[in-house]
Amino acid sequence: MAQASGELTRYLELTPKSRAMWQEATEYLPGGDSRHSIFWEPYPIFVTEASGCHVTDADGVERLDFINTMTTLILGHAPLTVMQAVHEQLDRGVVYNAPNEHQIRLAKLLCQRIPSFDLVRFTNSGTEATLNTIRAARAFTGKNLFAKVEGGYHGTHDAVSISVRVDLQQAGDPDRPKPVAGSAGLADGVLDQVVIIPFNETEIARRILEENKDQLAAVIVEPVMGSVGMVPGSSEFLTMLREITQDNGIILIFDEVISFRVAPGGAQQYYGITPDMTSLGKVIGGGFAVGAFGGRQDIMELYDPTKGAKVSHAGTFNANPVTMLAGAVTLEQLTPEVYRDLAELTEELRQGIRDVCNELEVPVQATGLGSLFGIHFNDGPIHNYRDVARDNSALRNQVFLGMMNEGVLMASNLVGGLSTVISKDEVAAFLEAFKKVLERQR
Ligand SMILES: Cc1ncc(COP(=O)(O)O)c(C=O)c1O
Repeated sequence: MAQASGELTRYLELTPKSRAMWQEATEYLPGGDSRHSIFWEPYPIFVTEASGCHVTDADGVERLDFINTMTTLILGHAPLTVMQAVHEQLDRGVVYNAPNEHQIRLAKLLCQRIPSFDLVRFTNSGTEATLNTIRAARAFTGKNLFAKVEGGYHGTHDAVSISVRVDLQQAGDPDRPKPVAGSAGLADGVLDQVVIIPFNETEIARRILEENKDQLAAVIVEPVMGSVGMVPGSSEFLTMLREITQDNGIILIFDEVISFRVAPGGAQQYYGITPDMTSLGKVIGGGFAVGAFGGRQDIMELYDPTKGAKVSHAGTFNANPVTMLAGAVTLEQLTPEVYRDLAELTEELRQGIRDVCNELEVPVQATGLGSLFGIHFNDGPIHNYRDVARDNSALRNQVFLGMMNEGVLMASNLVGGLSTVISKDEVAAFLEAFKKVLERQR
């Protein structure tokens, strides 16, 4: 890694205006921004413009976008159909104190496509969506505990801010992971309400769930773990979760905020496993702030004001017409063929990553499903958080900055999601850049 600092030097040369903007931002915003997930050392770029698969930063550097706003923009930036529809809606008002017709259009599309959706409600974020799935499960079952996967990210509310990026020194035995606070300031007692299970470790997870089954209201899981680096669940693991929850009156929640990208009906359709409740976000808002939760009629009816509304749910901007329309227009373009093409192209990318690393003798695992991909510099198979924790993080950081220098944007943990405006040419450009960057690290 002789030239390890070369990437940083080049990054600093390429981004002086972003650096100045970030320095100004830090005077008003802690850390210079409002999202931890898009901070990287030494500072992030400031984007001034984006179109299709390109983003341009404050210094005029154009990059290929392979992350698409944490996998949100499946049609790329500013797709014409969505933009035209939104412009027309803006002339008719942005948000009303009454329901709007676009909400029905999007709700219908979701209920038709997603196996677990009898009914759906909208929110402004995935965080609010997972909060509601867990709240609904508690209200429905009258129980309190819930289980989550070690390393799983489900947003920023207290209940799920546990065992996300865990320091393995504190995480306990792999056979019995301990809940670890993921933030300061969580309410007293939240750690006692969570049971942690390891992803894709079917027998260990089954034993832990068995031990707690009488107290568990819910199990929440991402069928493809985004936060850990696009790691797909095994059918065996997800089937075990479905069976044990069904047998014990526990609500199975799929958090498909990211994995909804995998198939028209989400990863649940891909795996053929139907949960009781599902949370959504990202793609379904067509680029606007969104979340949704839905599921079984008997659970969702807890939200029905004509039936007493046992669970409270409001939000000034919930289901606003702009987001609903953008989401509906986006989903209408996502035919089964689009998903198939995206999956094929992404597999080409994953295989290309493996081939480059093979040639350069760099241990790698390229993970993902459908249009989602993750790169792990790791010589062992990747099943869960503890496997990913062994990735070569020094190389990962260099490759991230190197790819930025070569004009390719990913998440700083080297994950991404393709958009429909990425073609074989952009995949080839990605692989060429990836090879150059890895060669520089020798
Ligand atoms: C799986 C998952 N759940 C929930 C969330 C939270 O969504 P939001 O950022 O819209 O609050 C995210 C965000 O990245 C996510 O990846």
